[in-house]
Formats: sequence, C-alpha cells, structure tokens
Amino acid sequence: MTRVEQAYELAKKTRNNAYAKYSNFFVGSAISIKGVEKLYGGCNVENISFGATICAERNAILNAVAENGKIEIEFVVVCVDTNPVTVPCGMCLQVISEFCKADTPIYLGDLNGIQKTMKFNELLPAPFDTLD
Ligand code: THU
Repeated sequence: MTRVEQAYELAKKTRNNAYAKYSNFFVGSAISIKGVEKLYGGCNVENISFGATICAERNAILNAVAENGKIEIEFVVVCVDTNPVTVPCGMCLQVISEFCKADTPIYLGDLNGIQKTMKFNELLPAPFDTLD
C-alpha cells in the first residue's frame, strides 16, 4: 500500500468516529507530515452550539501539532460518503495554509477510494496573510 492509500484508509476509519449528531454528515481526514512516519487522523466533532463544531481536517492537524509542534504538511486526505466528493471548508483551508505549500496535494475521497486530487492553491489561491 502506498502512503497515500494508508492515509486514505486512516481517514476512512477515523470517519467512523465522527460525532455528527446534528448534520449526520460524517467526515474523516488524515494528514501526512514531512519527516514523520506516523499519519494523523481526524473526524468532525459537532456541538449543540453549532459554531463550536470542529471539522475533520482541523482535528487531524491539531492532533499532529499536539504531538509534533511545528509541522509541514505533505498531503491531506478527506473522506466523505457523497458523490461528488466534497472539499475542505474555507476555515480548514486557512488552517491548512499555515502548514502547507501552494502545490500541496489535497486528496478527496469517498468510501470507494480517492476520487479527485487538487492542489492546495486551486482550493484557496489567496489565504489570509500579509501582502508582501
Ligand atoms: N465538515 C468537515 O468535517 N470538514 C469540512 O471541510 C466541511 C464540513 C463537517 C462539519 C460539520 O460537522 C459537518 O461536516 C457538516 O457541515
């Protein structure tokens, strides 16, 4: 299995732990970080105060930062059960931008596997940053 396939399997498995009692939309994510063997998974965790909900992608990133400090994201995988697949929300893209490069791959999958690959900057060409 390739590393991307391993990360996809982790995202799919972690999706099973999603706490999505309000939307019923279950999301799993996994990230690979440079120089670190371990892959990090995350799922969405909803809250009765809807705005306090944490998306799967941010959960995966926060897990990785909690264990490693500063990280460099090699790629991100997202797993949902919809066709067509979904992309990370704007808030997650902004958080991803903190740790990735313009051409970092974002793999978008459903329960059958990865269906689409996009570069980070196709999804968020202009993250919030200083204009230098
Ligand atoms: N969600 C994610 O986990 N990732 C995204 O990028 C988009 C949305 C979650 C948040 C909420 O629990 C549910 O999907 C519906 O929006």
